[in-house]
Amino acid sequence: MRHLMSPMDFTVEELEELMDLANDIEANPEKYSEACKGKKLATCFYEPSTRTRLSFESAMLNLGGNVIGFASADSSSASKGESVSDTVRVISCYADICAMRHPKEGAPLVASKKSRIPVINAGDGGHQHPTQTLTDLLTIRSLNGKIGNMTIGLCGDLKFGRTVHSLINALVRYDNIKFILISPGELRVPSYIREDVLKKNNIEFEEVERLEDAMPDLDILYMTRVQRERFFNEEEYLRMKDYYILDGQKMTLAKDDMLVLHPLPRVNEISVEVDDDERAAYFKQAQYGVYIRMALILTLLELN
Ligand code: NCD
Repeated sequence: MRHLMSPMDFTVEELEELMDLANDIEANPEKYSEACKGKKLATCFYEPSTRTRLSFESAMLNLGGNVIGFASADSSSASKGESVSDTVRVISCYADICAMRHPKEGAPLVASKKSRIPVINAGDGGHQHPTQTLTDLLTIRSLNGKIGNMTIGLCGDLKFGRTVHSLINALVRYDNIKFILISPGELRVPSYIREDVLKKNNIEFEEVERLEDAMPDLDILYMTRVQRERFFNEEEYLRMKDYYILDGQKMTLAKDDMLVLHPLPRVNEISVEVDDDERAAYFKQAQYGVYIRMALILTLLELN
């Protein structure tokens, strides 16, 4: 039995197979419409979510399966003090696969040790968010034709943004990727990413503060939200929250074929005027999130 805790749990070849499956699902949805008949997905979300939870549920329903679950810790027995290990042991009696989001780093991993069904990490604190990374990779591959030979700018809250951590981990295994890390000094990537992932793998990267300086070099710009819920004090958040705002003016500095990605939700970091720019790919990205989660469910249930 296989779980998904980090994008590193799949080799590059396995990621390619998963994305091939997702593209086939996109092209031939009817072929898969009963693939999970009689199977149940449990979504155990101890932290807010719109896209991740609903795209998982939509994915399972598209496959002809069913969904059960809870959308907040308050509505589960966590509020009575139950551990994730106990909860998942019980969920193993009710469902065939589980997607779990938790504010504590490592909680889905702890759960997976006691689980009798595959557990998918749907975001654990400021640590990892592997299914967002699968979504990001599929978006890049589908819209660019390939992953590799590109300069990617990651902008915003690189300290607490788990989508950024997972994406860097995944991308260092592809050829000729250069990173430009754009953040205020206070929100730089954690040192374990800089030292153990980027430097250790001899990856070319730069850290800059000004988005305008990086803009002309980028093939992909990955914007992120300042992660309010992970700040220790509100004042610090208020000082950081509007540090970057991507608007039409800044888009004039970018290449004609640069892609703008964002895991969403957006707050102020991308002006709505950018939505109409052909290079804005963040809503398409949300759609790819359904196809890749369908492919992931099929793969972990060994139904592909
Ligand atoms: C992200 C998350 O939860 O980490 N959202 C998502 O799943 N698409 C990004 C965020 O909340 O900023």
